Amino acid sequence: MQRETIVVLDYGSQYSQLITRRVRECHVYCEMLPWDASPEALDALAPRGIILSGGPNSVYDEGAPPLPEHVLHRGVPILGICYGMQLLGHYLGGKVAPAQAREYGPALLTVNKDSPLFEGLGPTLQVWMSHGDRIEVLPPGFEVLAHSSNSPIAAMADERRRFYGLQFHPEVAHTPKGKEILCNFCFRVCGCRGDWTPGSFIEESIAEIRRRVGKGKVICAISGGVDSTVVATLVRRAVGDQLTAIFVNNGLLRKGEVEENLERFHRYLGGNIIYVDASERFLRALAGVIDPEEKRKIIGHEFIAVFEEEAAKLGKVDFLAQGTLYPDVIESATPATKSAARIKTHHNVGGLPEHMRLELIEPLRFLFKDEVRQVGMALGLPEEMVYRQPFPGPGLAVRIIGEVTPERLEVLRAADAIVREEIAAAGLDREIWQYFAVLTSLRSVGVMGDSRTYEYTVAIRAVTSEDGMTADWARIPYDVLARMSNRIVNEVKGVNRVVYDISSKPPATIEWE
Ligand code: XMP
Repeated sequence: MQRETIVVLDYGSQYSQLITRRVRECHVYCEMLPWDASPEALDALAPRGIILSGGPNSVYDEGAPPLPEHVLHRGVPILGICYGMQLLGHYLGGKVAPAQAREYGPALLTVNKDSPLFEGLGPTLQVWMSHGDRIEVLPPGFEVLAHSSNSPIAAMADERRRFYGLQFHPEVAHTPKGKEILCNFCFRVCGCRGDWTPGSFIEESIAEIRRRVGKGKVICAISGGVDSTVVATLVRRAVGDQLTAIFVNNGLLRKGEVEENLERFHRYLGGNIIYVDASERFLRALAGVIDPEEKRKIIGHEFIAVFEEEAAKLGKVDFLAQGTLYPDVIESATPATKSAARIKTHHNVGGLPEHMRLELIEPLRFLFKDEVRQVGMALGLPEEMVYRQPFPGPGLAVRIIGEVTPERLEVLRAADAIVREEIAAAGLDREIWQYFAVLTSLRSVGVMGDSRTYEYTVAIRAVTSEDGMTADWARIPYDVLARMSNRIVNEVKGVNRVVYDISSKPPATIEWE
């Protein structure tokens, strides 16, 4: 049976991904495609409905992205949001008025007419506007569904063809009942059932992995993070011991992490697991290296070398399973980000050389991080693993400024463990996106007992974030900071000063290197 799907056609709004997420929160699978996706690409998904996103253009701009004819003729409901609404107006014979002033911010929407789109939501709604142009004359067949004080046509519909337009943004949090509007579109207009759940995702992916892999052999790298663990668990359930999972200890993990990971892997994943302690090799390669990019490259390179050596011992391998997520897929498909400046060379488990000629299995490539977590819970993985804070591939190497040595790693591990313990003890571990210690290369003078000290400064970094792309420093209570600072200078040899990093991203980044 074809999975019921809603497609978002992306016209470049900063909120397009958010529409996708909101629809999925209605338990309806949703994918975003570029506005110029081919008819075949749409056929492949057989959408029950199409949402046209907002976008930065005016329909009158030269080169403004159009509404392709074939979209209108699919015979499925269409919901145009903001620019998407203006496209409907423009292409169906209405009139769009060029902007005189932008309308931006909250507005009160009054519903004029009963419609499945606003069913059960009451006569007035708080909504968020952000538009320049607006519809001045309705296209033939359309009626006004709602207005606001500034927008006489804030929502419109041709109920016969099931075409709808919203001038405001239902996908943003500032439109409190926006999700209900999107759910109404899915259920009451498109006739979806809403049976896309973590459970149904698991069943479908296991069946799909079995079908693709057949009798082939699969490898995957596991790091202890949620993505690689969920991938490995899905593949294990699909093909059992045809999967070999490889855990590489690069010597750059946090205190207790190796043992913890191994214990969890054996308990929850089971089957063929190879553990490689390559810490000496990584530390040798990093000796004397100070430059952050150089460190990242060396670690990425060593990782691939170790992984390849282990894979070679297994004989012929056909597939590589890895935890690519939807934001990475979207990002690599967007030309704007392709040319973006390289801030850091990110290293993720799995970027393997071409010559290994492995086919990729990426069961999470259409999921957002929070959905992966839901799948992890539904798979029965432990909460500590599913909600573990993100940890970068290059590990502690990018949290030590300057050379990475075994001694400095020990200092950082001890300080970092204290930060983690105190955040957990204060019950803040779920609300703070990442929290860790950084060992700076700065030494300063202190006094301990009656003696002068000249030792390292540790920085505490803790940020709140939705996705790691932007972040703000976490407002940790002073007494929690005080406890961390106190414990670090008392318990960690070689540290006499602790500072708290109060920089947001941008302009800083989350990791220090
Ligand atoms: P930055 O430091 O760029 O980090 O603000 C953003 C997020 O990405 C994580 N990070 C990495 N994750 N490989 C990873 O898998 C990497 O090389 C890497 N570098 C940074 C970082 O921890 C934060 O969550």
